[in-house]
Amino acid sequence: MKNSVEVRKGLSGTFALNKQEPIHRWYKYDEGYSSELILNEFNRLPIDVESIFEPFAGSGTTPLVAAQLGIESYFTEINPFMAYITETKINTVRDASNNQDEVVKNLAELKSIILDFQTNVKYEHSHYDYQGFEKYYDEMVLNNISKVKWCIENIKDPISKKLARVALSAIAVKTSKMIKRGDLRYAKENEKNILSSDVFLHFLDKLNEITLDITNFSKSVQASTQYVHSDARQATLPKEVDCVITSPPYLNGTNYIRNTKLELQLLNFINSENDLPLLHSNGIMAGINSVSRRRSIPYIFEEVKPYVERLEAVAYDKRIPIMVGGYFYDMHNVFQKLKEVIRNNGVFVLDIGDSQFAGVHIPTDILLSEIAKKNGFELYDEETLRTRRSKNQMLLSQKVLRYRLKK
Ligand SMILES: C[S@@+](CC[C@H](N)C(=O)[O-])C[C@H]1O[C@@H](n2cnc3c(N)ncnc32)[C@H](O)[C@@H]1O
Repeated sequence: MKNSVEVRKGLSGTFALNKQEPIHRWYKYDEGYSSELILNEFNRLPIDVESIFEPFAGSGTTPLVAAQLGIESYFTEINPFMAYITETKINTVRDASNNQDEVVKNLAELKSIILDFQTNVKYEHSHYDYQGFEKYYDEMVLNNISKVKWCIENIKDPISKKLARVALSAIAVKTSKMIKRGDLRYAKENEKNILSSDVFLHFLDKLNEITLDITNFSKSVQASTQYVHSDARQATLPKEVDCVITSPPYLNGTNYIRNTKLELQLLNFINSENDLPLLHSNGIMAGINSVSRRRSIPYIFEEVKPYVERLEAVAYDKRIPIMVGGYFYDMHNVFQKLKEVIRNNGVFVLDIGDSQFAGVHIPTDILLSEIAKKNGFELYDEETLRTRRSKNQMLLSQKVLRYRLKK
């Protein structure tokens, strides 16, 4: 039996605790970790920190906690929708805090138009071409989403418009025929209820939450962030930073792009599903779907070779050993970049989980530490956040690894 401290520690490695946290809670990103974990990491850093870099920003947990501590940040994120969420939760919130009355008034106006929609079915609005995404929604739901989209497009103030777009994206999955259970998939009949499809209700709820947080917490965001590139391996920063706190893609096949396809389409970051594979293949090779003939892996690290060879013998899909070799090659390129952008004696904190394929355990933490060492990062501390058993009873864990850079 785990005690309450252990349970809390385990939860801190997931997004769950963020659901109660102002601003962090606006968009639920299951692949993220919690602000509590990152605040703890900041508190135990052995150095003073004025600037940080987050190479895999996701929903922006690290840059937002940094901004709440008054620390400026730079970030990269391959998914343009997630980059939008990160920027909005920090930079737009800061803009909103300087124009609070105006923003709150605009959001209140939007709410009253939506309330009108609830009673007046004959409202004029534009019709959109959802490029094949119609199949993920009931017709009535999509019609109501189009009304909300049209209202948002007519907001003149760019700050209020960005916030309203976040609110729309936050209800994209809930109101669809899909559900997130690890990955995004069609929901079974008993997994949705009658309220799930109430677009106006969910949108108004989200707008209320955002308005409340803007009113009460926008001043807590005391520093800004800068989106420097989509790809971590290609980041260029205006100066060296003191620290990196991040969680890279795990070697477990999560398709971060496909999991947000509804949001990507609703906010016009993609046209159709045809745009997804290219976006996905630009990211770190962490799933068999990212193994493609377009990309060759120049070399496999000596430390990784024994695992690749074992997988070549037993894997049920021949892409698995290629993926494992490619993952560590990609992560090496990220670490090379981190060595360039972190100052001497700076700190690098990494949240990572290990994996298994066909009964072959891949000690991702150990292999990453060996590759980090090649790039000047010395492991000075590590902590296990939680453990779990895979379907074949292998013990897997999520850890935080803490390194110091010696240039
Ligand atoms: C585990 S998630 C990070 C979640 C984040 N810690 C949070 O709290 O929201 C990993 C992220 O890395 C992004 N990613 C994958 N390949 C990337 C690359 N080459 N450069 C930048 N981001 C990448 C994915 O889109 C995903 O959002």
